[in-house]
Amino acid sequence: MNTLSVADFRKKLLCWYDRYGRDLPWRLKKRVQDPYNVWLSEIMLQQTTVQAVIPYYLKFIEKWPDVTALAAAQDDEVMHAWAGLGYYSRARNLLKCARVVVAQYGGEFPEDERDLLKLPGVGPYTAAAIGTIAFDKPSVVMDGNIERIASRVFRIEQEFPTAKPFAATLLQPLFCKPWQDGLYVHDFVQALMDLGATVCTPKSPKCDLCPLNSMCEARAQNCQTEYPKKAPKKKVETRTGEAYVVMNSKGQILLEKRNPKRMLGGMYGFPGTNWDNYQDHQSFNYNEGIRTNIGLVTHVFTHFKLKLDIVLVRIGHHELMDHQVWAPLGSVGDYALPKLFVKACNLVDVEKTG
Ligand code: ADE
Repeated sequence: MNTLSVADFRKKLLCWYDRYGRDLPWRLKKRVQDPYNVWLSEIMLQQTTVQAVIPYYLKFIEKWPDVTALAAAQDDEVMHAWAGLGYYSRARNLLKCARVVVAQYGGEFPEDERDLLKLPGVGPYTAAAIGTIAFDKPSVVMDGNIERIASRVFRIEQEFPTAKPFAATLLQPLFCKPWQDGLYVHDFVQALMDLGATVCTPKSPKCDLCPLNSMCEARAQNCQTEYPKKAPKKKVETRTGEAYVVMNSKGQILLEKRNPKRMLGGMYGFPGTNWDNYQDHQSFNYNEGIRTNIGLVTHVFTHFKLKLDIVLVRIGHHELMDHQVWAPLGSVGDYALPKLFVKACNLVDVEKTG
């Protein structure tokens, strides 16, 4: 891309962003945002939609307004506040990262991308996003939205993700210095994200509304929906298992704190079969008690799909182990319960099953 078209691209996109860019709680237009807010939002936005993230982001900022406050939080409190957002290793790393920033950097996020990359839970995308959005240091940030825009504007024939480095080379001149007065790379990145999310969408892009339509090579050939080219998806494995909603005579439910080494570690859940291939001690003999099958819950993890039969088990006496608690059915929300188990809980209809 020559210097003229770089200036044109930036100007068109940023004019559009001024008018149509989304107002999001972690975002300040024309001003860099606090690195804590950027980091927190970027970690939450990994594999999660903006709409799902907003209430969690607001809750976290209210509870822990800065990294020092977050670093001082109890692990359980943070896991509880994260419950429902999924990908729980993010929450564990979030806390680890906050503590490293306080212990090693006196509570100030480092500016250098190489230092950012050493922080727990911060990969190349997040380091580039923090560097660019919080410190206005231009480096190519490429999420799925930006990848799609690049693949169309430059009509990239290579399949993604293999094409990523090539796409980054093409985007490089757009991100790098010099930046004209009044235009900022932190706005530019987020403008691309918004354009991808609202206009240059995967299935029916609204090209008539796109500020870049005159520069888009795919649009010129009317083949925009053929991009990005993608390698065929590998079929994901489906696993099956059982989870036991164990209920005592007082109508309380047995919750177990999951071993930190297993999937959904540190969160609460129901006893069940070892669908995550973790050989735990058998905490509960699921053949005792009166069993009623109350439904099926499905959940998609990164590497597999899970189909879990939910069995209500009514029992008399049970000696609680250290990692177990009895919780009234209406109070399971007081515990850090992943969505998977919330779905299971919602199947319990005491009237019908009792
Ligand atoms: N997705 C990831 N980061 C984002 C941001 N800063 N704004 C909008 N969507 C995003």
